[in-house]
Amino acid sequence: MITGRLLILVLLVNFTRCDIYKSCSEVTFCSKFRNYPATRSEYFTAEIGEVNEDKMTNILTLPLSNEKDVKLELQVSFLSNFTARLRITEVNRKRYELKEVLDHEPHAVKYDITQQTNHKLRIHPHGLHDASIIISRGAPFSLELAYKTHTRINFDSSQLVFESAEEGEAFSFNVGFQGSTNLYGLHHHADRMTLRETVEADSDPYRLKNVDAGQYQTNSTKSLYGAVPVIYGHSKKSTSGIFLHNAAQQWVDITYKEKLKPSARFIVEGGTLDLFLFFGPSFKDVVRQYVDLTGRMHMPQLWTLGYHQCRYSYLTQDDVKEVVTKMEEYDFPMDAIWLDIDYTDGKKYFTWNPQNYSDPVGLQKYLASMNKRLITIIDPHIKVDSDYPVYVGGQGKYFVKWENGSDFQGDCWPGLSSYIDFLSPEARAYFANWYRYDKFNGSTETLAGIWNDMNEPSVFNVPQWENTFPPELVHYGNVRHRDIHNMYGFLQTKATHEGLLARDKHLKRPFILTRSYFAGSQRYAAMWTGDNTGDWPYLQVTYSECVLSNLVGHVFCGADVGGFFWDPEPELLQRWYQAGVWLPFYRGHANADTKRREPYLFPDDVQTVVRNALKTRYKHLLVFYTLFYQHVTNGDPVVRPLFYEYPDMIDIDDHILIGTDILATPVMEKGAKTKTVHFPGNEDTFWYRADLCTGNWTVHRGGTNETFNVDIQNSPYFYRAGSIVVVTNKQRTSTEGLLDDHFTIYANADPKGYATGFLYSDDGVSFDYQDKDYFCLLEMKYYTHPVYGFHYEQVKGNMELNFSFKEIVVHEIPESGNIAPISIEVVPGK
Ligand code: NOJ
Repeated sequence: MITGRLLILVLLVNFTRCDIYKSCSEVTFCSKFRNYPATRSEYFTAEIGEVNEDKMTNILTLPLSNEKDVKLELQVSFLSNFTARLRITEVNRKRYELKEVLDHEPHAVKYDITQQTNHKLRIHPHGLHDASIIISRGAPFSLELAYKTHTRINFDSSQLVFESAEEGEAFSFNVGFQGSTNLYGLHHHADRMTLRETVEADSDPYRLKNVDAGQYQTNSTKSLYGAVPVIYGHSKKSTSGIFLHNAAQQWVDITYKEKLKPSARFIVEGGTLDLFLFFGPSFKDVVRQYVDLTGRMHMPQLWTLGYHQCRYSYLTQDDVKEVVTKMEEYDFPMDAIWLDIDYTDGKKYFTWNPQNYSDPVGLQKYLASMNKRLITIIDPHIKVDSDYPVYVGGQGKYFVKWENGSDFQGDCWPGLSSYIDFLSPEARAYFANWYRYDKFNGSTETLAGIWNDMNEPSVFNVPQWENTFPPELVHYGNVRHRDIHNMYGFLQTKATHEGLLARDKHLKRPFILTRSYFAGSQRYAAMWTGDNTGDWPYLQVTYSECVLSNLVGHVFCGADVGGFFWDPEPELLQRWYQAGVWLPFYRGHANADTKRREPYLFPDDVQTVVRNALKTRYKHLLVFYTLFYQHVTNGDPVVRPLFYEYPDMIDIDDHILIGTDILATPVMEKGAKTKTVHFPGNEDTFWYRADLCTGNWTVHRGGTNETFNVDIQNSPYFYRAGSIVVVTNKQRTSTEGLLDDHFTIYANADPKGYATGFLYSDDGVSFDYQDKDYFCLLEMKYYTHPVYGFHYEQVKGNMELNFSFKEIVVHEIPESGNIAPISIEVVPGK
């Protein structure tokens, strides 16, 4: 309880590489399946009379067959947490079974059969009769996933086709999302949030094949650097979802032709048909169900949430020192500076350029003295060079191979290179070992993070293979590259993660940024959206890109601020810094041929805007940190689309929620003088316009749209009435010392005069939060009735937080309910 209040009334107020990427019609298996409706004789019947129940594994098996005498087996099981698994295998053929991707081997739970005739089988997870799977004999057989009395997902086997062994290994199937109005997922595409119609429209299917997609286009279904084969079907009433556990190239046609039954047709190059189905019923539930399977990230170190300054490349150590010094001199907070490929000796990773980076240890000491960290790039290609120990040690053993057993060699930054075979545990260990301080000579603890780039993987000048590996390459265990293409980058980050953990004796949480990723990569690395362009549509699409990645577990997402290609005009650069504040990963980066654009190089007015943006970010770091804790605990996204919390607010792609309590609506249009904000919620919901720089506040009712004047200084964001937002107002040049700051508490009262919130803290670095419960989670409550009060309590963790706050700023909605001036109460801290 706070005493001694002070009440203040305030009036409110390069080059085009895109064409080498194929369309469906240029890829044999895709065009074949897309134009190939299965005929009656190919429809499969489910022999329900021959159901086999394995009481040990809790897997139910049924034979499937068709008139062409193709024999398949259907396996169905339920997992805990409202998830079902469906696998369809061929009786006479073994395919590659994906490994490494799932966080743990899921165990099937017991089930009950409540209906069984020759034509229909109805099963439920044991004791949970709201959830059911109904299999109908057919032909074609169907499998429906129902929640309560409603079918949510329909596996419609009329499109179920497997290539015969002579033809190849491609297969196709179709999933309908009954009752859904919008489909989301198939991350990553540079497109709006809702998946678009591809069948009726003149569009290629969405493609998932990781490629080095430099200068990619927006509004496109073409594939980019990462792939997550998840689709959520959503309506304002409920959400369900699917995840195809398969890392081969795939194409997905989307259609909304049938009202309230959009569907997705998968056309997959190889591997198994292993499909997880999520019952939901809310968006939060489906996300948790998916993330339960593929894992959550561990807490990031606190400094990684600060601002990162990068460029391709800072060419000398003196340049790096100057940038860091100037950033400090000009009062731009930052935590890390990044070294792109030119710091190396001839693009040989784990080495330093002897001329320009002659004293890496000295450089790191300098950075450490300024409380900054260094991050260096380490790509997966290894220069073919008999004087390069990383190559020599790996030659013939740890590289990806041709079918004849010789090492594959391809062109990349260093010239001719071989590529580590990260599928092999020994190769991973080999690569990981190079991160040791005594192996990566010149690295110290200040080299605190690693950037894994070009890991789709990128191979230059092989347009016939779309500048990546040919599908016939062979990995450890005789696995064909085709079957694991989309997880090559995932495997590299796994190895890097092992390496950093070992290097730091498990005392620090590794920080890795990856360009390529797959389902589950969140366990090892943050990701960014690759080589975007310094143009307005690329700024606009960053929110869809990162919000969707957040819905599929990849919460630590960002986009190159300013755009990688081109020179952004100052207005765009400022708007990008303002929008980037609210994405979990915040890094300015630019290509080699762009003009220098460190913030201190701009005129004062531009500097002021960028400085305010960076400071706004630093003020809210504990909000992000607390949200990361929530992700770590239960899989929730850090940033969210409106429909995640307000299911009917779809198609508003330029607004995001940071957790539940901050609504960010930055300006993303050139020359915009106004910004229209769609306030989520209903008449009982209110949002306070927060402007920590000017101290001006207004209050706005949920369910309304309002248009604000926005000069270049303004990038609106709002606190939800009912929330408590903890802010660190002390001016800092980095996150160093931030956890010991006096906090400012914004108590944003709801109409009844209440507000609640959480604050998480730990040591910012180690795994003690995990291993020793050494953290602190506070629950805070503010109330005006029966008396004014603020109360906080540690609800989890055994770290005693020296929770000192400088002030509590209270926002209240006037009792009349009018949108009018509110009072701000400032209470001296303890
Ligand atoms: C491609 C990456 O996407 C980009 O960010 C990087 O600067 C260049 N590779 C050079 O390493």
